[in-house]
Amino acid sequence: MNKHSGSLQGRLLALVLGVVTMVWLAVAAAIWLDARHELDELLDAHLAQAAALLVMQSGQFEHDEHGIDAPSLHRYAPKVAFQVFHEGRLALRSANAPAEPMIRRGTDFHAGFKTVQIEGAAWRVFAAYGAERDIQVYVGERTSSRSSILWAVLRSTLWPMAVALPLLALAVWWAVFRGVAPLRRLGRTLAERLPQDLQPVAMDDAPSEMRPMIGALNILFGRIGTLLESERRFTADAAHELRTPIAAIRAQAQVALGETDDAARRHALQSTIEGCDRATRLVEQLLTLSRLEAAEAPPMTSVDLRALAQAVVAEIVPKAIAKNQTLEFAGNEACRMAGDETLLMVLVRNLVDNAVRYSPSSARVSVNVRRENNRVHLSVEDSGPGMAEADRVKLGERFFRVTGSGETGSGLGWSIVRRIALVHKMDLQVEKSAKLGGLAVHMQVHSI
Ligand SMILES: Nc1ncnc2c1ncn2[C@@H]1O[C@H](COP(=O)(O)OP(=O)(O)O)[C@@H](O)[C@H]1O
Ligand SMILES: [Mg+2]
Repeated sequence: MNKHSGSLQGRLLALVLGVVTMVWLAVAAAIWLDARHELDELLDAHLAQAAALLVMQSGQFEHDEHGIDAPSLHRYAPKVAFQVFHEGRLALRSANAPAEPMIRRGTDFHAGFKTVQIEGAAWRVFAAYGAERDIQVYVGERTSSRSSILWAVLRSTLWPMAVALPLLALAVWWAVFRGVAPLRRLGRTLAERLPQDLQPVAMDDAPSEMRPMIGALNILFGRIGTLLESERRFTADAAHELRTPIAAIRAQAQVALGETDDAARRHALQSTIEGCDRATRLVEQLLTLSRLEAAEAPPMTSVDLRALAQAVVAEIVPKAIAKNQTLEFAGNEACRMAGDETLLMVLVRNLVDNAVRYSPSSARVSVNVRRENNRVHLSVEDSGPGMAEADRVKLGERFFRVTGSGETGSGLGWSIVRRIALVHKMDLQVEKSAKLGGLAVHMQVHSI
């Protein structure tokens, strides 16, 4: 939003007043045009009628040079003027009329209306003639009198509005102030909240326009609450998980300290080092997971999943050999996908490591990468004990481990696997291996 968008109240006020003023000006313009038209028609009709009267009575005028000026009968009389000519000679005129015909004679006499300048003022003049054409009559009216009537009409429409506008402004200001009161109330409620208070905002009397906002706010509060809760649990779980290896390290160190026999001391120290390795692995997994959760999607490059999986298998082969297991790899064509190489390595390593770790000696572990219909498939299967359905669905919950395997681990591997699969938009499926009888993990993703 614009930094200078100002208050809602100010904007609404300006909008309403602006619209009202525009409408009102448009109405005034329409009234002006209409009134002018009607006024012109009416006054022109008067001029024409007056001229007709003069033409009719012209026979009675005496051609007395001294009596041609008619008396002025009203104070408005200077605004109207008339002239009667008989055979080209001025027979009668109003006191303010000039001696010359108001419409100067050109080649021909034209009956009808014309606007002319007489002594610097504009006049509307109607010219008429008698049946014989010997009588010519001019009746004129100052046009300024028409415009002053129009102005009077316009003034009378404008002034009530001029008075009403400030009152309207006041009314609108008050109405908007009342209207946005729930917004102010919401603002106060939120400002007064304690940071740890994530209860939904309750505003039953909120206007319907605010409902979606409050709804969204409450959903957000809910999400933050869930997030905080899971963070809290994660911290507690992580601390608990770290405490176990540290306690073991301490116990072994104490044994080593009290041991006099060299071989026994060596053994205790060896266990101490193993405990340290376990703790280190746990911390590394924790770091990987927290980095994954904090970061946006990593930059994707083209990765050959086949080559990558092969490298991981080669890395784990010694461990499989130590357990007398068979670790197989199958996949002969490049299987390119968009991804982050380091993360994909972590993913495959966790899966193969699990298969080797949780399968007994002499077991078989098979890693398979292939391309099919524009998709890359990766599967890791083993002939180990597998997992019960109820446990399989829990894979990915932090620190979830099946007890009794006798193996050490953090229970974070699958959280990491799921996270990486998510950022790569991979489909993940865990089931009982049809081929080897143990656990099978299948994943597939778009190839490029
Ligand atoms: N291939 C597998 N066969 C049998 N059990 C498995 C297999 N993979 C994982 N599990 C079980 O799932 C649990 C969670 O695995 P994981 O998230 O990788 O944590 P970790 O390996 O650190 O214990 C393991 O503790 C194990 O009990
Ligand atoms: Mg694991």
